[in-house]
Amino acid sequence: MIAKCSYLFTFTPPLLSARMTSMQIHILSLFPPMFEGPFDNSIIKRAIDNKLVTIHIHNIRDYTHDKHGTADDSPYGGGAGMVLKAGPVFEAVEAIKLELLEKGGVAEVPVVLLTPQGRVFSQQVALELAKLNHLILICGHYEGVDERVREYLATDEISIGDFVLSGGELAAMVVVDAMVRLLPGALGSEDSAADDSHSNGLLEYPQYTRPEVFREWAVPEILLSGNHAQVDRWRREQSILRTRQRRPELLDKADLTPEERAKLTSDQSP
Ligand SMILES: C[S@@+](CC[C@H](N)C(=O)[O-])C[C@H]1O[C@@H](n2cnc3c(N)ncnc32)[C@H](O)[C@@H]1O
Repeated sequence: MIAKCSYLFTFTPPLLSARMTSMQIHILSLFPPMFEGPFDNSIIKRAIDNKLVTIHIHNIRDYTHDKHGTADDSPYGGGAGMVLKAGPVFEAVEAIKLELLEKGGVAEVPVVLLTPQGRVFSQQVALELAKLNHLILICGHYEGVDERVREYLATDEISIGDFVLSGGELAAMVVVDAMVRLLPGALGSEDSAADDSHSNGLLEYPQYTRPEVFREWAVPEILLSGNHAQVDRWRREQSILRTRQRRPELLDKADLTPEERAKLTSDQSP
């Protein structure tokens, strides 16, 4: 048991085909209750229930030493707002690392600081993180986190986009959600990450379900044909087409055949 862990979703080690152990994610936050809803539903809940991942939420305030649980202070040099103190964050990370070392022999644990100044999160970064066995995520708040956390504790810094959130909690949820759905077995047979937008550098093709005609809008006939080869070809074409229409800059790095590239160059119709 990790010391002073306020919210703990704990599970026994699973048997996974593609992984030796379940992934263990530790999240440091000043507002643990924020995680209750998002991690209690849908694919993340299923992954937790199926023991693919364990998620431990640690309250940073539990690592403070005054009776008020003071985790922030005013910035040196003056200015508006408060800064999350280095001490409680270091102590929380060190306690987690110590327990992982003593109980599991884990010597290296990546420590990610969520910050709008980090490298920008993407499907590729999600894939990279989903391969880890252990991960610590630090959620900042207020004006941010004492710079010494970034400099001497974090091994990585991730931003979920070029905008500023009030705290790192929503960013951590985004990162965890994108990562967990990539764990082998996290998606049911009805779901698949393989064709998802950004998985192969392209946007996904359009999707339809019943009824065949909704109002006066019919489903493309090819999808009703039962001809799987033709459906696959149509979906691939649609995927390339909509990437060209909406995110043409993605095509440079997309996984296209020489024929598909040649077709793109010759066919400039919308
Ligand atoms: C109000 S922000 C602080 C922003 C900081 N003053 C700056 O300008 O870089 C408070 C916390 O929210 C989180 N945060 C805000 N925007 C984020 C983003 N785009 N990606 C990841 N985390 C973010 C970080 O943990 C940050 O410490």
